[in-house]
Order: sequence, then structure tokens, then C-alpha cells
Amino acid sequence: MKISFAEPDQPRSGAVVVGVWEEGVLTPAARGLDEATSGAISRALSAAPRFSGKKDELLPIVGPANLSVSRIVLAGLGKPESIDSRSLQQLGGNLVAHLNGTGEKEATFVIEIGGGAPVGQAQAAAELAFGARLRSYRFDKYKTKQKPEQKPSLHHLTVATTAANAAQRAYKPLGKTAEAVFFTRDLVSEPANVIYPETLAAQAVQLAELGVDVEVLDEQKMRDLGMNALLAVGQGSARPPRVVTMEWRGAKASGNSKGSRPLAFVGKGVTFDTGGISIKPAAGMADMKWDMAGSAVVIGLMRLLAARKARVNAVGVVGLAENMPSGNAQRPGDIVTSMSGQTIEVLNTDAEGRLVLADALWYCQDRFKPRLMIDLATLTGAVIVALGHYRAGLFSNNDELADRLIEVGKTVGEQVWRLPLAESYDREIDSDAADVKNIGGGRAGGSIIGAQFLQRFINDISWAHLDIAGTAWSTKDTATVPKGATAFGVRLLDRLVSQYYEKE
Ligand code: BES
Ligand code: MN
Ligand code: ZN
Repeated sequence: MKISFAEPDQPRSGAVVVGVWEEGVLTPAARGLDEATSGAISRALSAAPRFSGKKDELLPIVGPANLSVSRIVLAGLGKPESIDSRSLQQLGGNLVAHLNGTGEKEATFVIEIGGGAPVGQAQAAAELAFGARLRSYRFDKYKTKQKPEQKPSLHHLTVATTAANAAQRAYKPLGKTAEAVFFTRDLVSEPANVIYPETLAAQAVQLAELGVDVEVLDEQKMRDLGMNALLAVGQGSARPPRVVTMEWRGAKASGNSKGSRPLAFVGKGVTFDTGGISIKPAAGMADMKWDMAGSAVVIGLMRLLAARKARVNAVGVVGLAENMPSGNAQRPGDIVTSMSGQTIEVLNTDAEGRLVLADALWYCQDRFKPRLMIDLATLTGAVIVALGHYRAGLFSNNDELADRLIEVGKTVGEQVWRLPLAESYDREIDSDAADVKNIGGGRAGGSIIGAQFLQRFINDISWAHLDIAGTAWSTKDTATVPKGATAFGVRLLDRLVSQYYEKE
């Protein structure tokens, strides 16, 4: 789908979308169309009493008289004071979904929100386009037999605004964000026979083109470093594990001297999680192709920071392994010595993400001395029990960092909910045979237990852990995220960086 911005007086064809405020108050563009169609809009409004101009309401008017356009869509805007970037993105996304179902090839949004709204005209146009773009994502490369009516129809979207040039400029960074989100969604959607540690590492290596320093650690290097917890997860697989580091140095170039110690992002990249010898049931196991979502988010985030030349130093570290049962697989009861020197009793081989992260987190701190570290992992099914699919679990040893993540999450619509860390939970992972065991006594507080395990590998550093098991993948369409891989975390962390760490 091509997106462009144009002055509102251009000739139009296809669909035209105009806004209606709550209680049926027409925007100037809607009023203009009402006059040009001898009252078609007013008639439609009285014929559709359930449409009142509230947010998320759409009213199509097909084949309006006196005009070259094929349809007018009235879009509910709600109340002027409730307009913000997120609501505009959602409107853009909902409209694309609607129009793609109509067979319409071209559309123009003429949604002026006026001077009173909290978002400027150019920014508003850009946010509409951004939402439209995010929703237009498809992963259909393996569908070879799609009929035209099964494909999205909309090829060209024009957002009309009196500030077309400024809107185009405002859209530029948003377009880059969408590209990074799509890149992450692609990686997560690919099946595990295509994306495994080596091929996922190869995707990260591509970031070098944008000026990112990428390094791939192979098994030998990992063995030399003592990453035995991570290696143990991968030892049952024919696909050898990898660790990838991605460094972006954008602080110096911009004179951001305070930011020389990097922000660090660490991702769980289990390219397929069978559970290992503690094998998972067959039903739903295919979902575990997206057990590398945390790493895909980190790779997409690093790509975005580089693409938009973020004025910050950042490093991404991903631990990549495939968790398979085999004659070489680790066994329940095995004890491994992690890179930190701590010994881990592996009582359940399905609690593998924390083993991967134990070494990735340790290595990240040891090598890069980051000023803060945030990890993302599809770590526990328990976080889905606790929070469902609408919030990611947040754990942190730093209240300021936690509050920032919560706030930024609301802004971008990738929300997080804080859960506790405390000594009482930590005691549950004391092992009889080693320093720590990788599961607690029962099912209680499973996500917290997972986070406590990770914290055993955190030194004196601000740290946050995001358990994205419930939010990495969606079985339902939402306004800006079609069902499937969500890339949850890319926008959240990009915004965290731009809002708090680039301006100092
Ligand atoms: N990758 C899973 C967590 C998961 C489950 C993600 C469902 C998405 C949907 C993780 O490796 C796992 O298997 N966790 C176990 C931990 C348990 C053995 C302590 C779980 O959640 O059951
Ligand atoms: Mn598992
Ligand atoms: Zn897993």
C-alpha cells in the first residue's frame, strides 16, 4: 500500500473518508461533501441513528450522487479533546481494515481535526497514516493460491491536509518505525524450519548496513566464555546455538556525552521450544515457533535506532537456541555451571528461557557495562493466566525505570503491568543440590519465579524484565495490529529511548 500526503483540494477518486464529531457534528470536509451531494451525508446520518460520531464508528455511503468518488466513509472522531496520537493511529488502522474489505483500490482521508485538538494538523495526518500502515501488515509469503478477493484491495492511500509537506516530514520517522515493526513481525512469523539460531543470527548481521556493529558468537566461543546454561538448552538440537551482539553508537556523533555507557536490550531467542525432555503436549506446540519473539524485538529495535540515527549508545544481545529432545538433550536434574559461576539445577527442561537469559544477561553486563538493561522474553505461560493478552508483565529493581515503561506503554499502546519481586519468592528457587534451581515448588506465581531466577544474574544495575508471552502474538485483529506477530516492545522501547535518553 502506497501512502502519500496531498493538499485537500486535489481531485479524488475511490473512497473519501471524512470525520464526524460526537453527536453527529460534521467536520468542515464532511459539510462540504454534504453540500456537493445535495445532502447525502445528512440523509445517511438520519437513516443510521446508531451512528453518532463516537470513536470506532464508521458509516459507509456507497455511490453518492453528483460525485466522481465511489464511496464516502463517515468516521466517528469522538470528542475533540479526546484526540491523541494513539486514537488517530487507531482510526487510520480501522479505516484500512474496513476499506480492504470493500474492494476499494484508492482512498483519501480528509480528516481535519481542527486547531482545538491536542495534536497538530501535520502530526495528526502522519499518525493516521502510521496507523494505516501498521494495520496493513500481512504475512502471506507462503500462500501461493490466494484469489484476488482474499487479498487486500487498497493500493493507494492519500492523507489530505493543508500541511502536506510538514505531514510528509512528520511521517518519515513513523514510516521507519513501521518498517522495523514489520521486520520483527516477519521474523516472529517465520516457521522454525526457516528461522533457527544461525539464520536468525544472519538476519541480525544485516544490520551492519545501517552502521550497527554486529558480532556472532559460535558454540566454541560460547564454550570458552562459559555459557553452559545457554549451551545446555541447545545441546539436544541439530541446530547449534548462537549469541549475537549488536552495538549502535549514536551518542558521540550528537554530543550526547552523558550517554556513553550504553542502554542494553536482551532478548530470549528460543527458535523452537518443544520443552525438551520435559516435553510439551502436542496441542498448541506449533505456537512455540514464536518463542524467539523477545530476540526479534531486540533485533528490530536495534534496526530502528540505527535507521533513525538515535542520539544514544545502545547494545542488543540475543541468546539463540532450539530446545529439542534427543539423545544429546539435557535431562531433568542436570546441573550446569552458568557463565556467572553460579550452578543451576535444571529440574524442568521446559523452563529454558531463563537458562538462555542467565548467560545472555551476565555476558551483556560483563562486556558492555550498560547503564541500564531491559530484557524481553516469552518466558512463562503463567503471565497469560495473570494478565491475559492485553498487558505484558513488568518486573524491575528500579521504580523510576518501571514508571517510565508504564507511562510510555500507555502512549504507544503497548501496555505493561508491574508485578512484584521479593525475597519470599526468591527463596523458592533455592536448590538442594546447586546454587539455584530453574523452577519453583509448584505453579503458584510462575511469572514471578521466572523473574526471580533472572534477577539472580543481575548485578548492581537498573534492570527491567518484560514477560511478553501473552502479548507477542495475537489471535485477534486490533486497530493497528492484525492477528499474528505483534512486535510488542519495538515501539515501547523505541519511545522509551527517544523520550528519556536522547535529550540529555
Ligand atoms: N516458552 C514458554 C512460555 C510460553 C508458554 C510462552 C505459552 C508462550 C505461551 C516457556 O519456555 C515455558 O515453557 N515455560 C514454562 C515454565 C514452567 C516449566 C516453570 C511454562 O510456562 O509452563
Ligand atoms: Mn519452555
Ligand atoms: Zn520457552
